[in-house]
Amino acid sequence: MSIEIEEITNKFEELSLTEINDIKDYLISHNIPLFRLDKEKGIVEFSTEQLSLILDNPKYANLKLYVPKNFKVFIKEFKTIKENEKSNLPNSNYVFKTPKECEEELDRRIKEIGKMTYQDKISIIETYNRELKEVKVDEKTKINRNTAQQIVNAGNDVGLIAKVTMFESMKKIKDNEITQDQAKIENQEITETTSSLVTTIVNMLSYNTGTQKIFTELKNYSDGGVMAHSNRVFISYVNFLTFYNNLIKRRHLVYNIRTVYEKVYKKFYDKVVETIGGKYKIYDNLKTVEDCIDQGIKSVEEQEMYSYSVGALLHDVGKVKDLDYFEGADGRDYERIKKHLFNSYKLVSQTSEYPLEVILTVALHHEYYGLGYGPYEKLHNMKTEKYQGFQIQRIMSYNAKAIDDCEAFAYFPAKMLEIIDVYDALMDPARKYRGGKTFTPEEALNIMREDFIEKQVKLDPILYDVFVEFLSNSIEKDLMSAKLD
Ligand SMILES: [Fe+2]
Ligand SMILES: [Fe+2]
Repeated sequence: MSIEIEEITNKFEELSLTEINDIKDYLISHNIPLFRLDKEKGIVEFSTEQLSLILDNPKYANLKLYVPKNFKVFIKEFKTIKENEKSNLPNSNYVFKTPKECEEELDRRIKEIGKMTYQDKISIIETYNRELKEVKVDEKTKINRNTAQQIVNAGNDVGLIAKVTMFESMKKIKDNEITQDQAKIENQEITETTSSLVTTIVNMLSYNTGTQKIFTELKNYSDGGVMAHSNRVFISYVNFLTFYNNLIKRRHLVYNIRTVYEKVYKKFYDKVVETIGGKYKIYDNLKTVEDCIDQGIKSVEEQEMYSYSVGALLHDVGKVKDLDYFEGADGRDYERIKKHLFNSYKLVSQTSEYPLEVILTVALHHEYYGLGYGPYEKLHNMKTEKYQGFQIQRIMSYNAKAIDDCEAFAYFPAKMLEIIDVYDALMDPARKYRGGKTFTPEEALNIMREDFIEKQVKLDPILYDVFVEFLSNSIEKDLMSAKLD
């Protein structure tokens, strides 16, 4: 029986009958899978329909039921709703959904958007944009929960509209009904209104850096669906970028990094050079931050910030129904990562006229310093065919053109996106990474540090440390010990 006990504690959460009794209506209506321990068969499914039979029966008073750990978040939610009811506190009007319900709703919404005319889609995006522009946000007036919810809704819908439209255009291109150029012209207005809405959201979020907390509290910000993931990544990304820019302005970030570069970061960049050195010829005398990063650590310009953020919103646009993959430590999902990455890249670059900054942010978000996947290798091969003895000059650059020309190896906004993306995957209760386990912020950071930087340098070490500060700041918890040393 020992295997089962270990399996249970790894994968399941125990629920007492009192707890179950309190939230039984929700367990039934949301079809939450329950399990019980059978002496012979081990852990077996327990139908929620049987609940009413056991709950009032003293014979079963000691029965223990279990719920899979990735459903823990729902249990917590149901309990909160119940407690609020008891104390007459208002509940948010958001109806909590299981991953299956999310998927069904997503299907329904995709069908709905599929039936819309082009003008309908434009007017939805424009309405969001107009409504958000009317909200007063400045240094003094912080974003409140309602506005945060509005931003989440806008991000979800505009992401979904982009997705549906791009898939439709891609189909027409494949069926030889239109060319790529014609698709780009057809979708021009959607591309423009989407970019304009993203600009509005970036401007709102960049007024105050403390907004991440409000978003984290929003319940449907975390419903497990692929759109929720993209949207969460998008909003966290804008907040992270804003934090980074402010840190440069206010707190001598550049000076601090220069000071500790040799002691803390150099070894990781040397390792990157060593890892990719077999494949690429790269400048390897990395004595200063400026030798690694073209122009060193610097703030991001407004216009670039808009483009990077559009890239973050669209980064997984080619992901269809697979909800549980990202670049895991064991690489078991490589084939699927490859597919969704190239799908997203193709959709963004072939059906719409987005700037190079957007395209490369999407295209390079799984490169992991040469240990992941992406189109960089192909770009590079084209370059070396043309110029013999060609050498990559910098590890990282802010300049899209420099990446396109392979003068630098990694693209700053894509390296930032990788960090947010991995963190989100680790924190998402609906993903099944490492046996259905979800992590606390500390645990997630430790995994990122150990598996994604110390063992193999996949994430950028400097940006990782900035992220630790960002997270400490946004969840108001001291996580600084997770920094590199
Ligand atoms: Fe991805
Ligand atoms: Fe992603």
